[in-house]
Formats: sequence, C-alpha cells, structure tokens
Amino acid sequence: MIDIHHHLLWDQDDGATSLDLSIEMARMAANDGITHIACTPHANGHYPYLPEVISSKVAELQHLLDKEGIDLKLGRGCDFHMSYDNIEQARMDASRFTLNCGGYLLVEIPDYAIPRGLAETFYQMQLDGLTPILTHPERNATLQKDSSLIMEWLRGGVLVQVTAGSVTGRMGKTAQRVAHELLSKRWVHFLATDAHNTGSRPPKMREAHDLVADKYGPEYAHLLCVSNPLAAFLNKPMPPQLEPIDLYENLEPKSWWQRLLNR
Ligand SMILES: [Fe+2]
Repeated sequence: MIDIHHHLLWDQDDGATSLDLSIEMARMAANDGITHIACTPHANGHYPYLPEVISSKVAELQHLLDKEGIDLKLGRGCDFHMSYDNIEQARMDASRFTLNCGGYLLVEIPDYAIPRGLAETFYQMQLDGLTPILTHPERNATLQKDSSLIMEWLRGGVLVQVTAGSVTGRMGKTAQRVAHELLSKRWVHFLATDAHNTGSRPPKMREAHDLVADKYGPEYAHLLCVSNPLAAFLNKPMPPQLEPIDLYENLEPKSWWQRLLNR
C-alpha cells in the first residue's frame, strides 16, 4: 500500500517528535503492509515550511531506514493549507508543495469554514497543471453537514482522500459515517493514514483497506490504497476509476419550471 499523507518527519510539525519516533513509525507502517510513504508536513502558518529542509530530512531518514532494513520508499510533499500566501507561492513554483515535485497537491481546508471562491481556486490550480487532492473532507465540520460542495468539486476534477482512521471509526462516529457515505458512492480516490505518531494517529491502513474490500469490493480497495496513490506518488496519470454514483445523474438542464421551483 502507498501512503500519500503522513507526518513522518521529526520536529517538522505536530507529527513525529524525534528521529527515533520517525523510525518507529516507519517500522510500524512497513509491518502494516505500507511500501511507500510521502512525508507531508503541514504547510500552514503554525510551522515553518522549508522544502529544502524536508528534502534533506527525507534523504537522511531514507538512508537510516535502508540501514535498518526497513523496506520503505520515502517521498515528499506537504499538507497544503489554502492560505493566500501558499496559493500565491504555488502559482510561482508548485513543486515546492506537490507530491514528489509532480502535479498532485494535497489540499487541506479549514475545519470550520470553507474559504470563499474555493471552487475557482481549484479550477485555477488545474489550469496551472495541478491535480488537487482534497484531504479528509469527512473530518470537516461544514462538509459533514452538507456534502454538496464536495460534489461540485468532484465534478470539477478534484480528487478526494479519506483518512484510514475515519473508515475504521478511530476519528469519531461522524467522520466514520461521512467517510462511508463517500465510499458507498465511490467519491473517494485515496485512503491515507495522516499518521502523526504511533498511538492516537498511527501509520496504519491495512484494517481500513480490508474493511473497504469487504464492504465495497476488493477492486475499489486496491484502487484507493495501491493503484491511485502509486500514480500520485510517481506523478503518473490516474488509472481508470470505477463509476461514481449520484455524481453526474442530475446534471441534465432543468426546465424553466424546475428552475422556478429550484428543483
Ligand atoms: Fe495531515
């Protein structure tokens, strides 16, 4: 399995607090069946985001993992917060932020408010050659109440990543319910751990993979945990997807009478 969202690097954000913990998390991930990890620290106002530091830490950690015999391939990216500064910087040089400096960008939106004009920002990103991956919408309080915005973004070409812990219930009942709503409609493209430590936010996705395979079919689980994240990790086009449900059905033009009644 390939994990494209993981706070593995030490002393970078609220993820691993030491190099030893990074190694322990990597070992736990490998034991869970994870083969690739994109190290994606937060790029927001709380933590200094320095791509050069991240690259050198990824190289250092990869060297140590190889020495320890932990079979994991590391990459890099970030948890891109939708701030004005970040968006401006990404317009100038998106490779500072994208997964392995390719075209896929993990995008995090604030928990309690959806920034105005977000659909336009997503659209602009795509005009700039990027593929935005919306991280864990199932944990966003606004989207938990109304998932229609996700529908609009999905139609616009945004991809969706759900946290493995949301699928299994570790992130709470509401996140779990919304995660399964999205999964049941095949509106999800990636599962990822969003691991921060070895305890409350562990680097595990096997259990979520198996649950998805059980409930929604092994083909979908494979897409979410292997084929799609591998494509993003390697900066390749996404493989063919399963048909989403209820995404395009009500796109036929409305009659004047329906528009009048707003139906
Ligand atoms: Fe994250």
